[in-house]
Amino acid sequence: MKPTGPHGARPNHAHLPQRMGVRVAGSGSSLPARRVTNADLEKVMETSDEWIVQRTGIRERRIHDHAAGESASLLATESVREALADARLAPTDLDLIVVATMTADSPTPSVSCVVAHRLGCGPVGAIDLNAACSGFVCSMNVVHGLLMSGAYRNAAVVGADCITRYMDFSTYGRGTSVLFGDAASAVILRVTDDASKGLLAQAMHSDGGGSRHLFIPSRAEHFPPGAEFEERKLNKVQMNGQAVFKFAVSTFPKLIEETLDKAGLTPEQVDHYVCHQSNMRILDAARERFGLSPEKLHVNIDRYGNTVAASVPLIFDELRRAGRVHDGHKVMFLAFGAGLTWASSLWQV
Ligand code: UT7
Repeated sequence: MKPTGPHGARPNHAHLPQRMGVRVAGSGSSLPARRVTNADLEKVMETSDEWIVQRTGIRERRIHDHAAGESASLLATESVREALADARLAPTDLDLIVVATMTADSPTPSVSCVVAHRLGCGPVGAIDLNAACSGFVCSMNVVHGLLMSGAYRNAAVVGADCITRYMDFSTYGRGTSVLFGDAASAVILRVTDDASKGLLAQAMHSDGGGSRHLFIPSRAEHFPPGAEFEERKLNKVQMNGQAVFKFAVSTFPKLIEETLDKAGLTPEQVDHYVCHQSNMRILDAARERFGLSPEKLHVNIDRYGNTVAASVPLIFDELRRAGRVHDGHKVMFLAFGAGLTWASSLWQV
């Protein structure tokens, strides 16, 4: 029988190591099979490969096939399965699953509960977290705190979104729909007695006043004052691209500076900047501002577009699998998105 505390709960701190850290034990990703190139989009809307590449850096993206059963929960499940295999852990070793998503298959059950059930994790803690594109980065901060409290030992942190469900793939919606793609990606975080591993600094911010620049209306009253109601806009992402662009270009450098200041580090002392992939021009601006090489600030937007909460873990998983993330590296995760939200999480891995 498991030991119980005064209220019947397991005593969380009973077996805490003297020195404690959190390490990344594994990672994995899952992508829809269907690749959609810019040339494919040219067939369904007035756009061009040239416009999309020049303005965004995107060449292709993956789009889920709803009829084939692809959804945020399916992709999330497969990404955790792969991450567990990478960490050499069984589903029953997990005691917490946090899925960052804004496109759960339905309002309830949560994606995390579906993932836990499909993998056979048993009665694991399972919660979804919605901070749009910043969701995975916020989840890394939240889960680090929970692991360091001693309440949990092995957690899966997932970013999973099938945002193309909310896109208008016609000329009318071209300003938004060419940017996005679907994916899920996960990391396994474990408590370790190596206190050098884990979070060095973090930041989480929001500005609900900016929600009018990026929202999904499902009823007339969801349109902000001044926004024109149109039936065809219902359940489609509405984005003021230029406003979000300006917000991102000014916020990204400030977020990097704030996080470096908190950690007492210079830009060169961080080994990898793992940034939300929303527009090549936004990433280039951050690179130039801090004089970062492409080896430090990575890009995969050309292949996947903006995959919302999956964007940051997807590129991190690629880096790990390519053997580019080494023991002791400092990795800064960064994202911004709807809400508006922006967040960072700086780790020594
Ligand atoms: O996770 C956060 C998510 N969002 C973002 O990060 C988005 C940030 N914003 C952006 O990346 C850019 O604002 C966009 C890529 C969305 C748009 O680029 P832009 O340089 O701001 O273009 P624009 O919206 O000012 O449009 C310029 C022109 C317009 O034509 P006119 O009025 O100049 O004749 C648009 O109608 O480009 C036209 N246009 C297109 N043309 C071909 C807009 N979308 C397309 C398209 N293909 N897909």
